[in-house]
Amino acid sequence: MAIDLAVLRGDGIGPEIAEATLAVLAAADRCFGLGLSFSEIPVGLAAFAAEGTTFSDASEARIRAADGVILAPLATYEYAEGQPNPSARIRRGLDLYANIRPSVSRLPGAARRMDLVIYRENTEGFYADRSMFAGSGEFMPSPDMALAVRKITRSACERIARAAFEAALHRRRKVTAVHKANVLRQTDGLFLEAVRHVAGDYPTVSLEEVIVDAMAAHLVRDASVYDVVVTTNMYGDILSDEAGELAGGLGLAPALNVGADHAVAQAVHGSAPDIAGRGIANPVALILSAALLLEWLGARRGEPLLTDAARAIEAAVTAALADPATHTPDLGGDGTTAGFADAVVRALSR
Ligand code: NAI
Repeated sequence: MAIDLAVLRGDGIGPEIAEATLAVLAAADRCFGLGLSFSEIPVGLAAFAAEGTTFSDASEARIRAADGVILAPLATYEYAEGQPNPSARIRRGLDLYANIRPSVSRLPGAARRMDLVIYRENTEGFYADRSMFAGSGEFMPSPDMALAVRKITRSACERIARAAFEAALHRRRKVTAVHKANVLRQTDGLFLEAVRHVAGDYPTVSLEEVIVDAMAAHLVRDASVYDVVVTTNMYGDILSDEAGELAGGLGLAPALNVGADHAVAQAVHGSAPDIAGRGIANPVALILSAALLLEWLGARRGEPLLTDAARAIEAAVTAALADPATHTPDLGGDGTTAGFADAVVRALSR
């Protein structure tokens, strides 16, 4: 087996949590013989300083050629006007239409138990850089008026719905479609129509429909009742932060961006400039995102060793979290990024 992973260390806490993630992947490689190799690709503020762009065409071509991608968080808000958002470019360029965001309570003694996964449509919706053939989906007809266009297509809704129902077959066989069709009758109406159509192909999976504002409240009340949640881009973005926080914190929330031929591991959170450079960022989200990537590679290649390695990393993270001495400050502890990675590596090696 030979697997080349492109690694983009990102900005802010990105390089710190990427280092921790690579240490865990190297340990998994030693335990399972995965044949992993890593290709470093410049991105973000460091790439801008070296090459004058936050993301070059050459970098995109290298990502396309890799077997999988690990993309650490980016400080996109700090980029100079006109500089590309690498995350958006990669999602669009590789047609990564599904943003898969699991929220699982892993902390010892957690008051709430939850194990859900949000399937967020990733290529259209209310994102100004994704909705137009030319120009921006956000514009100002006058100095005192700003407009944003939200694009919803049947094909994009059907493929995210299909991904969600496929996932549900291997879980608790329940899909919750989140929408606002009571107000956005055409756009969210089309989304619901597409989901219902796909549901017809999965008679053993139940479908429920929940309005997005109610969903925000239901998650707080009892997130344990949800299994697979499917929704449009912006709702999924917001609800997954909420679910991540309910499961223990943003620092624990992983994600995988998936298309037909590519997958990119990327934590839900951003570059956390307030704690960058101090070695105290929680690396769990990116480590678990890397595990999701190995799982995807395992399914794609029919290679059980990769799936085993993914499960072992997940179990090692849960084992490390069981000891509060490993917890980083966001979890109320005084542990470090490197210390947590060491604990995961030790658990893996056991
Ligand atoms: P953020 O997610 O970076 O931080 C929000 C809060 O959560 C901060 O208090 C931060 O310290 C904490 N936090 C986040 N991840 C953590 C971790 N692993 N360990 C411990 N604490 C953690 O969101 P914010 O501050 O709104 O954005 C900062 C920058 O990140 C902006 O430039 C934004 O554009 C960018 N961003 C990038 C994303 C990406 O690359 N996928 C996603 C979201 C934001």
